[in-house]
Amino acid sequence: NIPRFVKIVEVGPRDGLQNEKDIVPTSVKVELIKMLVDSGLQVVEATSFVSPKWVPQLADAKDVIEAIKSVGGARFPVLTPNLKGLEAALAAGVKEVAVFAAASESFSRSNINCSIDESLARYRDVTSAARKHSIPVRGYISCVVGCPMEGNVHPSKVAYVADELYKMGCNEISLGDTIGVGTPGTVVPMIEAVKNVVPIEKLAVHFHDTYGQALSNILVSLQMGIGVVDSSVSGLGGCPYAKGATGNVATEDVVYMLNGLGVKTNVDLKKLMLAGDFIRKHLGRPTESKAATALSKT
Ligand code: HMG
Ligand code: MG
Repeated sequence: NIPRFVKIVEVGPRDGLQNEKDIVPTSVKVELIKMLVDSGLQVVEATSFVSPKWVPQLADAKDVIEAIKSVGGARFPVLTPNLKGLEAALAAGVKEVAVFAAASESFSRSNINCSIDESLARYRDVTSAARKHSIPVRGYISCVVGCPMEGNVHPSKVAYVADELYKMGCNEISLGDTIGVGTPGTVVPMIEAVKNVVPIEKLAVHFHDTYGQALSNILVSLQMGIGVVDSSVSGLGGCPYAKGATGNVATEDVVYMLNGLGVKTNVDLKKLMLAGDFIRKHLGRPTESKAATALSKT
């Protein structure tokens, strides 16, 4: 009972680049986004309206949004950690945003400098302001199976945060294995707990591939009825506040697997690989995608 269509949320320009030390020029980010859209991706998380002191790489958020205004055919959500971020995003012309909470207190502190409950209070302000502008809000939860500081995270903690985000009006909840430690053994019970409080069709999964478990975790998530998968072209990424966490699962690998399963994604793998080549040439590091590596040799 795997969904026949899977919506891929491409997070490369945001999650993928936020951790890069050398500032990527705005023009390169914009070209990357255009190439991703050209490959058929319908949702491309473009940037974050966060504190430039915390994430210097995304300090050009306003310019990125301005430059992609005329690009049609895709949605370009951005991360907003508070009302200040939402207001800046709205002023820039953003039409969709995401808030980001955590299932572990330590991670919440290190990522957004407040407790889980404080973050939820902020996000209530963000979602109610967004509602007035008819702006959909996605809710992320980090550390859904493990935390870099606290270790294993109990599914009930994830369910608590998911329930709160859903009740405040988030239209989609993305479950993030921020440090990529999950296996189907921990992911399945976590999703079981969350789907008791949020309908399965409102859930997305977001796996980092640190331990090489992302595709297995995605497959079990699909088998449980989840139809939205976050991924990052060429496996870009890592969270600045999660030491040792590597990139998101590569979008090319996800598309390759979904093609094999006969699941539609609307994404052209060859064009997607061109986007991966483009950003990897700029960064000067080889792709993390096994499918892209293999296909480029054939
Ligand atoms: P703070 O220092 O507690 O905030 O940061 P503050 O309210 O005290 O403000 C401090 C300064 O930041 C002030 O400026 C504010 O104006 C400014 P100053 O007076 O010092 O010049 N400020 C802002 N500037 C621009 N945009 C804003 C904004 N808000 C305040 N929106 C804050 C709190 C949340 C702002 C900060 O911690 C922050 O920006 N954190 C962002 C961290 C981040 O982006 N992390 C990565 C994304 S999450 C992730 O990757 C996980 C995910 O992929 C899922 C997964 O993998 O699990 C989503
Ligand atoms: Mg992430």
